[in-house]
Amino acid sequence: MAETGDTAPSAGELRPLASIAPKEIFAELQRGVLGQDTALRYVAVAIFKHVTGKVPGNILLIGNSGTGKTTIMNNIQRLYQTFPEYRPFRSMTIINANLLVDSDRMEFRPDRLLTAAEQRARSVLGRDPTVEDLKAAMERATVCIDEIDKMSSVVAGKPNAIGVVLQQGLLTLMEGETVAYKTYAFVDGEEREVTLDIDTGGMMFICGGAFEGLYDQVYLRVAKPGSGEKLKSHAIRTADGDVRIEERFTLGDFLKDEDLFTYGMVPQFLARFDNIVLLDELSVDVLKEILLKAFDSPYQRSRRYFEVLDIELEIEDLAAALIAEQAQKHTRTGARALRTIFGKIINRLEYDPWRSDALEELEEGKHRLVVTAGLVRSKLGL
Ligand SMILES: Nc1ncnc2c1ncn2[C@@H]1O[C@H](COP(=O)(O)OP(=O)(O)O)[C@@H](O)[C@H]1O
Ligand SMILES: [Mg+2]
Repeated sequence: MAETGDTAPSAGELRPLASIAPKEIFAELQRGVLGQDTALRYVAVAIFKHVTGKVPGNILLIGNSGTGKTTIMNNIQRLYQTFPEYRPFRSMTIINANLLVDSDRMEFRPDRLLTAAEQRARSVLGRDPTVEDLKAAMERATVCIDEIDKMSSVVAGKPNAIGVVLQQGLLTLMEGETVAYKTYAFVDGEEREVTLDIDTGGMMFICGGAFEGLYDQVYLRVAKPGSGEKLKSHAIRTADGDVRIEERFTLGDFLKDEDLFTYGMVPQFLARFDNIVLLDELSVDVLKEILLKAFDSPYQRSRRYFEVLDIELEIEDLAAALIAEQAQKHTRTGARALRTIFGKIINRLEYDPWRSDALEELEEGKHRLVVTAGLVRSKLGL
């Protein structure tokens, strides 16, 4: 992850926020999120609007497990940390939806979200911020709420009251509400309890969820005789490089707001999102890219581990392709499968690289370790 960047450069070095175009934001996000360009474009525009003081576009991210929802949220945070211009916007929080409700009391708990935003704000503002600075930083927060689908109003066909509580609470926050928030701050040189009236109207909200079952639900609606829907043609690239036109069901072609209502999203809550964005499935090519390039990929992590031992870790292109191919077979875990599979290959080498045949000596004490296709095949029994 990037350094915290808490050393403030002098104002002269900072570019005006309006000069950092969505394209540049997109490019920075893309360093950590691969194969989700459509979603990243929406996110980049929303961030641009947010930091330039326009009404931000709240976004709902829908994508299967392991396709990058949480990764997108983490990379927004990384973006804010990386660009010194975004220092005022670093009070960002990523929180699981279920933490925002108290299920015993059936109560929405916005304070938990605000506490997280406050902690981030304080770490950016340094010691003893003024009440005004603290309030302003919190009001500019970017709020990412993960696993929002788990707070559906219907779970396994039964009403889920706690989900309704959460969605009602959140929709009011997203509309812009003033929340009385108690904390401690320095007033006239003295620390005391203060109540901050936090106006949530300037916050940006990004929610994400896998919405398991939504795909089947919509497919069944579309496939039902007399639904009046017709599958659309898609260009499909085959393994040998040909392009074939096929009629195929994709969620993106058919998803309507009504489907999400049926799923258990409260209509007024859904209406708070300016964009509902579907993440793409990850192809073998994208999985390979993720393995090789995403800085949080298991391969990149392992490289950093071996660097400590003065060993340069490399991977053959074919080896990476084989791993990606195996990962794609685990459709339920998406890119998460890369970690498990790569782990099987690298674990013994990380444990004791020194006796491996794969280790080559370079000059003075430096070594190189190459993950070959042969090694991958033998470890995975292919
Ligand atoms: N589009 C992507 N780009 C880069 N890495 C990804 C992507 N999707 C998933 N990953 C990797 O796979 C793992 C799981 O991804 P995550 O974002 O947590 O999935 P989810 O969509 O379930 O939130 C993470 O470790 C991440 O590094
Ligand atoms: Mg996730």
